[in-house]
Amino acid sequence: MLKIAVLISGGGTNLQALIDAIESREIAGKIEVVISSKEDAYGLVRAKNHGISTSVLKIDKLLGKAARDRALMQLLLDYQVDLVILAGYLGILSEEIIKEYSNRIINIHPSLIPSFSGRSFYGVRVHREAIIRGVKLSGATVHFVNEVTDGGPIILQEAIAVDFEDDEVSLQKKVLNIEHRLLVKAVRLYSEGRLEVIDNRVKIH
Ligand code: GRF
Repeated sequence: MLKIAVLISGGGTNLQALIDAIESREIAGKIEVVISSKEDAYGLVRAKNHGISTSVLKIDKLLGKAARDRALMQLLLDYQVDLVILAGYLGILSEEIIKEYSNRIINIHPSLIPSFSGRSFYGVRVHREAIIRGVKLSGATVHFVNEVTDGGPIILQEAIAVDFEDDEVSLQKKVLNIEHRLLVKAVRLYSEGRLEVIDNRVKIH
């Protein structure tokens, strides 16, 4: 059975979607640990409610990011994780982790990559920029993580219409609904061994 680590920084609704899909046996896997970059992330409560181990890894002012990344790598190794899922995780992973878990880290991004993606696009900012630009379509993307932020092989995308009446909050809500479905589907496909990466593209078998 697939051993999964989920990394979060916030509310954890995507984490909840994964927990529900595992409990209903839609995904054959087990979340071994939920790791948060913030100690007050509500996703930690969700994990505890379901008896899942949790860990908080913040950047220590003195020791810096490298120490946090080493601790993160050690945790993933300790739990013998097969798959890492970034579900609203705000940190950038170290090159060592990305290399060690090549094509085994999945991220969910709340836009149609490559639109509104990259280092400066996270959280509600993504939706604000989409509204300001007046795009008629937005959506969500699930992709493997490589060394380019939001640049890894795309697994799944789904679009939704942006209405003139939408604002960043309503658009975020619409997109989150898609995210939950898309992330579960991608992890299911991965757990079934149906994803193959060929030249930065994903073939679904
Ligand atoms: C989602 O929109 C995700 O795409 C983004 O951060 C948000 C996290 O939401 N990276 P949640 O914590 O899963 O509710």
